[in-house]
Amino acid sequence: MKILTVIGARPQIIKASALSRAIQNGYSNKIEEVIVHTGQHYDASMSGIFFSELQIPKEKYNLNTGSLSHGKQTARMIEGIEDIILSERPDALVIYGDTNSTLAGAVAASKLLIPVIHIEAGLRSFDKTMPEEINRILSDNVSTLLFTPTQTGYNNLISEGFPSEICKKPDFNHPNIYHCGDIMLDNTLYFRNIALNNTEYKKKYGDNFILCTVHRNTNTDNAEKLSNIFLSLLETAKMQKIIMPLHPRTKKMAEQLLPADLQKAIRNNPNIIITDPVGYLEMIYLESMSSFVITDSGGVQKEAYFLGKPCIILRPQTEWVEIVDAGAAIITDTDKEKIVQSAKLFSDESVRNKIRTQCLDSKLFGNGKTAEFICKTITECL
Ligand code: UD1
Ligand code: UDP
Repeated sequence: MKILTVIGARPQIIKASALSRAIQNGYSNKIEEVIVHTGQHYDASMSGIFFSELQIPKEKYNLNTGSLSHGKQTARMIEGIEDIILSERPDALVIYGDTNSTLAGAVAASKLLIPVIHIEAGLRSFDKTMPEEINRILSDNVSTLLFTPTQTGYNNLISEGFPSEICKKPDFNHPNIYHCGDIMLDNTLYFRNIALNNTEYKKKYGDNFILCTVHRNTNTDNAEKLSNIFLSLLETAKMQKIIMPLHPRTKKMAEQLLPADLQKAIRNNPNIIITDPVGYLEMIYLESMSSFVITDSGGVQKEAYFLGKPCIILRPQTEWVEIVDAGAAIITDTDKEKIVQSAKLFSDESVRNKIRTQCLDSKLFGNGKTAEFICKTITECL
């Protein structure tokens, strides 16, 4: 069978590498994968680097959509993907997560009656002001195979009326949903040792730091929230050095929205190290060697958990409720007091050790063989 995989944003490129690897290692005689890159992310540090370091087959098509408003960006992607579907005639189209590239793939394929396979389905924040929430709900509702990374994701779909019975031949009106674990765990387990053995990273970063990432539009595009985040980082940096690989969106918005004196204080603080976005292996090194993580990223929250690290979540809620329920993460949103208090708590080694043991024993996100399960299921029922 031929599948068309649509990727576009950084986390999708990373997730797609696990499925491509599973196909190459066990299903290459059954599945032909054609990769379409929408071009949503295009900087070398947001896209190209992952193809080389994660050994992802080069995309056959790149739509070069780039950065545009939601409507224009999604529309151009839909148009481009539709043309590719018409010429490639795939048996199914694979989408990941919740970005505009995900939604574009879902709309283009479902209208042409090509079954949609949604990997990382069922997640909900229950906040429709998030563009990702709209993308998830719409994509799930036109998918034929839905793979949920967590039990919560599965339960969300059941409560929205998706059927729990597994059909032998699912179709548009009878989708199948599977709780199968998280494809990101496949990658973390596969690449962790390679990352940790990299002596260059060891020399560059050492092992005594907090890792922070920020990119969520609700944080970057709001002057008060963005200021609160950086003010708490200035306070937290008194405890330990902070390494912050910065998403281009955050860099741009910080320059536009933060008061000049705050920008100066950040620039002049030797304990806040801001870098360009890093590659996946470098990121896995940073997550593994950090004392704890501060982030608004969905993927980074989970990787912190996979690697036994406490996490401060710079959002009002999370789709990954399991890690909060397990006591490994704290939701602080952009409340300065809460962020600094949580950082103080996670600076305590005994607290970190307890969390670490608990995370590493956990099976909440599956067994690291999710991509194989997905390949097997696709070949059996489509
Ligand atoms: C997108 C996803 C978000 C995901 C994130 C992963 C949507 C609606 N949002 O957010 O769910 O968590 O990717 O990182 O799909 N930019 C560059 N270079 C690039 C890419 C982006 O400079 O290679 C800058 C541009 O100024 C652009 C801004 O970042 O306007 C935002 O990019 P965009 O892809 O629209 O959204 P993200 O914030 O990256
Ligand atoms: N990541 C990376 N380099 C960075 C920041 C993140 O490789 O500088 C990886 C991270 O390890 C995870 C994924 O990107 O696998 C998460 O993507 P992102 O935070 O952009 O988006 P989200 O997961 O919130 O959609």
